[in-house]
Amino acid sequence: MARVTRLHRVEQRTRGRFVEPPLTPRTAVIWSVLAAELDRRADVALTVLDVGGGTGGFAVPLAQAGHQVTVVDASPDALAALTRRAAEAGVADRVHAVQGDGDALTGLVEPASVDLVLCHAVLEVVDDPLPVTTALAAALRPGGAASVLVAGRAAAVLGRAMNGHLDVAAALAAAADGAAGPRDTLRRRFAAEEAATLLRAAGLTVEEIHGVRVLADLLPAAVADGQPGALVELERALAGHPPYRDLAAQLHLFARRPA
Ligand SMILES: C[S@@+](CC[C@H](N)C(=O)[O-])C[C@H]1O[C@@H](n2cnc3c(N)ncnc32)[C@H](O)[C@@H]1O
Repeated sequence: MARVTRLHRVEQRTRGRFVEPPLTPRTAVIWSVLAAELDRRADVALTVLDVGGGTGGFAVPLAQAGHQVTVVDASPDALAALTRRAAEAGVADRVHAVQGDGDALTGLVEPASVDLVLCHAVLEVVDDPLPVTTALAAALRPGGAASVLVAGRAAAVLGRAMNGHLDVAAALAAAADGAAGPRDTLRRRFAAEEAATLLRAAGLTVEEIHGVRVLADLLPAAVADGQPGALVELERALAGHPPYRDLAAQLHLFARRPA
């Protein structure tokens, strides 16, 4: 099984400011946060680990920016799509696909070897989020950063209610785990402070919390599709500010392993 290698220093080319891929309401806020970290370390090619990275929506742009990215994912189909996407983008040599489970990272990744770990839309589907989060933290070298995206609890309640499913909204609002029983596709959802508490329990310092898709899922399609640039800008403007942040469909936490 591939093991994540240590940080690679870029010797033969000058790294510039990170150029974000085309931004959507789903990705703009996350890329803004990541770009700041990538720019901060613009002189090195980072070792990146994307747990549950799926088909490579983040892994491939990061590899295109010159970083070494390992994607650990449970799904062979997702990894096959990732491998194709990386080849089409010309970065097959910088993207490593590893089939595995998020809470078994210690057997797949050398401890304290990763500069940036991504775990997007995974903690809401795993059996227990704490061992996975602890494994993410253990993979990071001291000073390394974590980008964690989780499903928001309040948005799910509002969404069910606005679609007329008041009984489901009431059940979700009352459920300790923010999930609506066995037919829910997710096992849990988070309020911002709950997600932050989880990361802190794993030994990470939470530096930033943003809402992702504060408005995007609430707007009529004609508005969202008709004014995409304005929507991205408004999402970015609202993302960091409660109460808007706390109503977002997803919460993005940027955290760091203490140096
Ligand atoms: C909703 S997708 C998110 C994909 C990607 N991170 C994104 O944000 O677009 C969840 C991914 O996590 C993977 N996954 C689910 N449980 C996992 C686990 N226990 N360990 C590793 N990957 C897992 C799934 O195969 C899937 O690719």
